[in-house]
Amino acid sequence: MAFFTHNISRALSSTAVRNTVIKHVTIIGGGQMGAGIAQVAASTGHTVMLVDTSEDILKKSVKGIEGSLKRVVKKKFADKPEEGAAFIQKVMKNVSFTTDASSAVQTTDLVLEAIVENIKIKQDLFGGLDKLAPAHTIFASNTSSLPISDIASSTKRLDRFGGLHFFNPVPMMKLVEVIGTSSTSQETFDSLMSFSKALGKTPVSCKDTPGFIVNRLLVPYMMEAIRLHERGHGSKEDIDIAMKLGAGYPMGPFELLDYVGLDTAKFIMDGWSAMDPGNPLFGQSEMLNKLVAEGKYGKKTGEGFYKYK
Ligand SMILES: NC(=O)c1ccc[n+]([C@@H]2O[C@H](COP(=O)([O-])OP(=O)(O)OC[C@H]3O[C@@H](n4cnc5c(N)ncnc54)[C@H](O)[C@@H]3O)[C@@H](O)[C@H]2O)c1
Repeated sequence: MAFFTHNISRALSSTAVRNTVIKHVTIIGGGQMGAGIAQVAASTGHTVMLVDTSEDILKKSVKGIEGSLKRVVKKKFADKPEEGAAFIQKVMKNVSFTTDASSAVQTTDLVLEAIVENIKIKQDLFGGLDKLAPAHTIFASNTSSLPISDIASSTKRLDRFGGLHFFNPVPMMKLVEVIGTSSTSQETFDSLMSFSKALGKTPVSCKDTPGFIVNRLLVPYMMEAIRLHERGHGSKEDIDIAMKLGAGYPMGPFELLDYVGLDTAKFIMDGWSAMDPGNPLFGQSEMLNKLVAEGKYGKKTGEGFYKYK
């Protein structure tokens, strides 16, 4: 109840208290999500420092961002290739790359973490950076499935800690789920909402509950599609066609599972079922377990429910 009241008061507050205006962002993790967020932040005039564990990984992040910007420019500056090239140059100037997280957080407004989905590793990271980042710096996690309050507990800045959950691919997907815990201050929450809008995204306010909004609805839906198929109620192809043509979804649940990664889907379900073992929505699927055990994770490994060349 305390949490509910906190959220309501947050929602009703209209007076802008002195919020941190986020201009400089340090993103930890230059993988799929971190590189995407870096690209969007740099494209919208923010100064970005992207951190990962090795130079080789960072080289891949640079390549990924440049490749993605080229696709954006192809559409946006179709008839003006020089302007497109200048745009890429300007955006890339806004991003720096480093393996030194300790130095990277010393002058920054926001530390946004997009590293491996492991609570201990995330806690260790934030616990260490808490001692190094300035007092005004807001910390945020892009976790898909872990409680923000558990990650924040390794720091002493509980009031300046929240969740910013982006969607893949970040440059394309308009939504950001902004998560406040019961300790997140109104100012921090407002700053995270403003930052999301400054990125050109549409933020929604979420409670710190498993899966926030989108995954809480989407993951059980995908799991139920597998169970429907396991019970012999329909082929995966028919279920995908049915949801696309009957519900107007752009992808069927099996196509979406292959895109998300079957390992990721299983990891999320295992975590939630450990938190809420009796919930039938979070039950195991033999078919999913078998595919994951065989290393068939979906598009990224060339095979999941479907085969990819
Ligand atoms: N992939 C998605 O669709 C998606 C969507 C929303 C949120 N997320 C969340 O975003 C986070 C990252 O996911 P991803 O798909 O980008 O993963 P990824 O594996 O593509 O990238 C993670 C990156 O973090 C780096 N890393 C790991 N530990 C590090 C450390 N201590 N310091 C610096 N870098 C470190 C890795 O080298 C890797 O480059 C996860 O928490 C995930 O749950 C993922």
